[in-house]
Amino acid sequence: MQLDGTAIMQELREDHRNMAAILDQLDDVTWLASSGKDPDFPLLGEIMRYMTVYPDAVHHPKEDVMYERLRSERPDLSEGLDDVCEDHRAIAELGARLRDDVEAVIAGAAVRREKLIEDASAYVGRLRAHMQWEEGDLFKRIDSMLDAEPMNFDVSRYAHVRDPLFGTQVDDNFERLTTSMRP
Ligand SMILES: [Fe+2]
Ligand SMILES: [Fe+2]
Repeated sequence: MQLDGTAIMQELREDHRNMAAILDQLDDVTWLASSGKDPDFPLLGEIMRYMTVYPDAVHHPKEDVMYERLRSERPDLSEGLDDVCEDHRAIAELGARLRDDVEAVIAGAAVRREKLIEDASAYVGRLRAHMQWEEGDLFKRIDSMLDAEPMNFDVSRYAHVRDPLFGTQVDDNFERLTTSMRP
């Protein structure tokens, strides 16, 4: 399935808005933990599950398709692009570390509060900085490429994966997260 590049960029920017809202939730939970209160661990579990099943599994690979084309079509706009792979890898690793902490707590294991706060801050910081880089620089380079020459992209590998939280139907597994995000 081929999709127009500008439509994909719209999706990617919408993903970022959604991910920013989730990171705000994660901030709130971390703040609660650092002020000595017990955070809502099942909520934290839902947050990290969402990050694994959508941003890690769909958003980043879709971006990789765009960056790959930028690299092959517009080497003149591809400076520093190698760092993206490392960023995506590091974000997945930091996310997995935090998810492990949370799952351990939910399973009844003792996890130092400081470790949880540290891991959450590292994850949020890295992902926010990465999204800012993309919004402020990388996505604009892709826009320039598409302005100069409209292109289609094959994203059929991800087309069947719906966003379980911000899509048309909310997955039951994200009930707490949905409630906590309600204004
Ligand atoms: Fe990215
Ligand atoms: Fe992104």
